[in-house]
Amino acid sequence: TTPRKGPVIGFSQATTVEPWRLLFNEELRAEAARHPEVTVLMADANDSVAQQVTDMEGFIKRKVDAILISPKESAELTPVVIKAADAGIPVFVLDRNVETDRITQFIGGDNRAIGRAAGHYAVQLLGGEGKARGMIFEVWGGMKTRPSQDRHDGFHEVVEREPGIRFVGQPVDCDWKQHLAYEAMLDILDKEPRIDLVYAHNDPMAYGAWMAARDEGRAEGIAFLGIDGIPSEGVRWVRDGVLSATFLYKTPGDEGLRQALKFLAGEPIARTLTLPTEVIDRQRAEEILAARKNQP
Ligand code: FRU
Repeated sequence: TTPRKGPVIGFSQATTVEPWRLLFNEELRAEAARHPEVTVLMADANDSVAQQVTDMEGFIKRKVDAILISPKESAELTPVVIKAADAGIPVFVLDRNVETDRITQFIGGDNRAIGRAAGHYAVQLLGGEGKARGMIFEVWGGMKTRPSQDRHDGFHEVVEREPGIRFVGQPVDCDWKQHLAYEAMLDILDKEPRIDLVYAHNDPMAYGAWMAARDEGRAEGIAFLGIDGIPSEGVRWVRDGVLSATFLYKTPGDEGLRQALKFLAGEPIARTLTLPTEVIDRQRAEEILAARKNQP
């Protein structure tokens, strides 16, 4: 085989457990397939910060032309990102940001805005602005990640204006995982006779919390909100009435690769690229799924 002449791009993925990540990778691969001259080296850190640092070191050693990284956690991955920048490798950070501006571009959703949108939705469900009443349980993703912190901050910014709303339970790190949210929810159901709404930082955890409530016979009285809105999970769960709504958190893989290639071709790119979001309620969920069915 003749060696490819185009750029070599390292892609360091935090994990591939959640379907959101699989879609992310799939879209990146599909974009790569349109550029046969490009080589993409993919590394999956399997939820391990140490592994992800090793993966990054490997890309630096290999002197790849650019790196795309979706970090497991923000602070811990920052030094190796700086190391790549020191080695002259442009770094594109996707989804979970790091704590340095020595990156070429950040691509992701506006998690604070998503948190605020979820907050407004919760206030409406609980009786409307100024009149909302109820008990909310918040299910955290990874506490050491920017998306979780921003989803928390945005939600609280809106909801804390409501004197009739209270939060129950202590913050628990559920690491974005459905089974950990299931456990956290069982625990809080045991302690709290009344919960009106669950706000989970992603859809798999919203679903896990719902399963726990269902298993305890308490799902009927509780509204569940999630984030991600991928068709195979959140959108279906909203359509089926399991979740009241989810908020789109667009996967950044295809755009990430396009931006890196643009940059390597010498074209100007933005420092930050904010991906769109939208509220997905039941009607919107039905529309999205119907449109997909009609696709060839
Ligand atoms: C997948 C995921 C998504 C979430 C994102 C946040 O690993 O947990 O569900 O929106 O990461 O970084």
